[in-house]
Amino acid sequence: MSEMKQERPWWKESVVYQIYPRSFMDGNGDGVGDLPGILSKLDYLKDLGIDVIWICPVYRSPNDDNGYDISDYCAIQEEFGTMEQFDELLQEAHRRGIRIIMDLVINHTSDEHPWFIESRSSKTSPKRDYYIWRTGRGDAEPNNWESIFGGSAWEYDDRTDEYYMHLFSVKQPDLNWDHPEVRTKLYEMINWWLDKGIDGFRVDAITHIKKLALLPDLPNPEKKRYVASWDGHRNREGILDYLRELYRETFAKYDIMTVGEANGVSIAQAEDYVGRHGVFNMIFQFEHMTIDHGPGGKWDYRADWKLSELKAILSAWQKGLEGRGWNALFLENHDVPRSVSRFADDGRYRIESAKMLATLFMLMQGTPYIYQGQEIGMTNVKFESEEQYRDVEIKNYFGEAGANGLEPQKALEAVYRQGRDNARTPMQWNDGLYAGFSSHEPWIQVNPNYPHIHVAGQLEDPGSILNYYKRLIRLRKDRSVCIDGSYDLLLPEDERVYAYTRTSSEEVLLVLCSFSQEPCKVQLPEHLLAVPAAELLLCNYDGDAEPLTAEGAVLRPYEARIYSIRS
Ligand code: NOJ
Repeated sequence: MSEMKQERPWWKESVVYQIYPRSFMDGNGDGVGDLPGILSKLDYLKDLGIDVIWICPVYRSPNDDNGYDISDYCAIQEEFGTMEQFDELLQEAHRRGIRIIMDLVINHTSDEHPWFIESRSSKTSPKRDYYIWRTGRGDAEPNNWESIFGGSAWEYDDRTDEYYMHLFSVKQPDLNWDHPEVRTKLYEMINWWLDKGIDGFRVDAITHIKKLALLPDLPNPEKKRYVASWDGHRNREGILDYLRELYRETFAKYDIMTVGEANGVSIAQAEDYVGRHGVFNMIFQFEHMTIDHGPGGKWDYRADWKLSELKAILSAWQKGLEGRGWNALFLENHDVPRSVSRFADDGRYRIESAKMLATLFMLMQGTPYIYQGQEIGMTNVKFESEEQYRDVEIKNYFGEAGANGLEPQKALEAVYRQGRDNARTPMQWNDGLYAGFSSHEPWIQVNPNYPHIHVAGQLEDPGSILNYYKRLIRLRKDRSVCIDGSYDLLLPEDERVYAYTRTSSEEVLLVLCSFSQEPCKVQLPEHLLAVPAAELLLCNYDGDAEPLTAEGAVLRPYEARIYSIRS
């Protein structure tokens, strides 16, 4: 590879599209999305202009956490199809020039994985130490850690009178990465998939694999029953040894892309993860995903989050990794609310808002990830009753909220804001039965707004969000400044407009994004306004935009503009 090529590996120029297979497209009419469904939409994705698909887990799984609980890494979940269908999908994607990355879930398995079944069978099982077992303290759990999905991070097993650790659901026991055989077995499995010809991995929950030595109780000043346990297992000392070994034994041998789900990694530490000698090509950081969390965590909605905070977080990552690493850019995924409902306006200005948010994140430095439905401006959903929800985390929350005496309506409202099922309702393909997702009642209800938010309508409408995404993707591809240009934030204190530039030796891009429902004036620095030839490349309103003048610009509600300034 030439030096130039190394500077610009394919994954830096790629746009990724994330598929949540259960909710994307049902090919066999059983109400659950599947591999044939994805196959049938490859041309749609090609037309959108994306380069890579990340498919959330499709491995065999009892489905406690929708596939993130794997019982066989080398088999396909029956509901999703067969390994032959997977191979066909891979081949057909490649034929269209689309790469596929898989979700790699190696912090935990399902409790129905043969390793765990063997491990739990007796204290002397050769697989006992594949997982983390401890005796309790009297009637209490081995320590006070809380599971990320609520409740204790330990589950008692009366067969051997010990507890096993599960940072996520009780059906997701944590693997013991300190055991060399576990690591070897995982590497074999990873190489098996890479030898098949997939193009990389999104690596799930990877910062949790190394637990704090001796698993101590965490400080508990508020005398809670269980304590949020991040400090016990997130990015703990020693993790890099395991990650580097993982890299050496697997990823390093292939021309692939990898993105680590790296909760808890700071900018200062990011170089270890994504720098020149890093383990991943990029990582997902989640600081901007907690901006509306109150002191009580994700269910404690904080309405007064500020645009200046969002700017500060995103800009710190942009500048922090510039020339040192690479960002993964995203506003949505299957674990968080829909961005248009969360950050902008999903009512009157939904269309403008969705386009504005697309402009904001897709032009930063890094590889953009579009989550299914984001490209048509899908919104959060408000189901009327608890029974309509499917997510294990939401169900646990309802259980705990009830036990703590929270009114059911209040719990529902928290879920309307932050629940993961907001992003998991079926993809809205058309205004027909079940939004064209399936011919059978889907596993989770379709968002009732599908008659006016769907792909078919937007394909035909030149002014649609979908067509705006296509233009934006093309613009990124046509201008190398989008990949290489440095990022600079303008107007850091402005609470209504997010403005930034991307600068290369040839061109400056100026990106203006209004987060206001009212028209608002933006005063730009003189050096940008002094250039007479600012060419408007894209705007989320039809027709002419008001020109940039020495006085600045007046942006319409949720307006976004991209200018090119060539010196
Ligand atoms: C992160 C995944 O994105 C989420 O959906 C899952 O529940 C947890 N990891 C556990 O695997």
